[in-house]
Amino acid sequence: MFETLKAQPADKILALMQMYKDDPRDTKIDLGVGVYKDATGLTPVMRAVKSAEHQLWETQNSKSYTGLAGDPAFGDAMIDLVLGDAMPRANIAAAATPGGTGAVRQAFELIQMARPDAKVFVSDPTWPNHLSMLKYLDMPVVPYRYFDDETRGVDFDGMMADLKTAQKGDVILLHGCCHNPTGANLNASQWDDVIKVLQDTGATPMIDIAYQGFGDGLDDDAAATRKIAASVPECLIAASCSKNFGIYRERTGMLMAVSSDASAQKLNQGTLAFLNRQNFSFPPDHGARLVTMILNDATLRADWMAELEEIRNGMLGLRSQLAGELQRLSGSDRFGFLAQHRGMFSRLGTTPEMVEKLRADHGIYMVGDSRMNIAGLNAATVPILARAILDVGI
Ligand code: LMR
Repeated sequence: MFETLKAQPADKILALMQMYKDDPRDTKIDLGVGVYKDATGLTPVMRAVKSAEHQLWETQNSKSYTGLAGDPAFGDAMIDLVLGDAMPRANIAAAATPGGTGAVRQAFELIQMARPDAKVFVSDPTWPNHLSMLKYLDMPVVPYRYFDDETRGVDFDGMMADLKTAQKGDVILLHGCCHNPTGANLNASQWDDVIKVLQDTGATPMIDIAYQGFGDGLDDDAAATRKIAASVPECLIAASCSKNFGIYRERTGMLMAVSSDASAQKLNQGTLAFLNRQNFSFPPDHGARLVTMILNDATLRADWMAELEEIRNGMLGLRSQLAGELQRLSGSDRFGFLAQHRGMFSRLGTTPEMVEKLRADHGIYMVGDSRMNIAGLNAATVPILARAILDVGI
């Protein structure tokens, strides 16, 4: 039977990871996959994670199953981290998932179960795996304008015009912060306008929040998500711990279904547990347990927050350094947007040919749509990148 299989398209981001590995040049620079690297090029295990792992090793006496939705304490800790006190706990159903991607996938399946004809509005561009999963699930997709190629900011008028065509029963997928792949984000008043559109159209928001703490801080990055949750009857939130806890391979995420009608919580919770059972049964626990320990222990939490802050400030520093270097070398302000963007990524806004030239001539790897992982840079590679960008004629 296997002979009937068709070769599947390679994931662009993961294919790039392999190309980078295979490149023998020792001057190569990896700005591809969204993984934080410190100044030495290492993706470190965060201090609080190490301490929690140590404690866990000493105290854990069973690895028996938890619950289908994961350990409820993880749910409580994540709800507090993402939503604060925006919504009463009683209104929120939550289930642990294998990473943020698992949460996104489960959210799509829940939408399909609830509304088989729902259209999912996605930003143009969005994280390629959103599109890939929606296609795989055969769900209708409507792109909405998002990135302005001229300013490298958000095409807010275009976005608003497109979102207004959504209807009740449709879903609008939003990036809670640190838009992937562009790095261009809405300001607070623009988020208010999005909320107004959600209220007017009755469309259901689904928020993918994978980089909380990587933009302007833990609370600032969650502000839009909290406000949306408190302003509409229902929303879905897919949260990831991969980046902000640096536990990429532990696959730690959480899907939340928030309803302003508290009596819906039981049904929502049962549905999330059912979906987990169908797809993988019990979600991974190791990462979730570490996150729970860190968030519930004042010392570990403070240390985690301090290290996350160092990481965030490091990325902001690299952004200003790169924008400054490009300004100095080119004598123009046209790269100023790099300092305005937030999160790991910035879309440079150039052609796939230029991206290919950067790879071929300079060993600089970025995604074909010119998404750069700023966290893949360090103080020494920034000037190399700036010179290469100008050298290929961007
Ligand atoms: C990325 O966008 O690079 C990350 O979210 C990693 C991934 O799974 O694609």
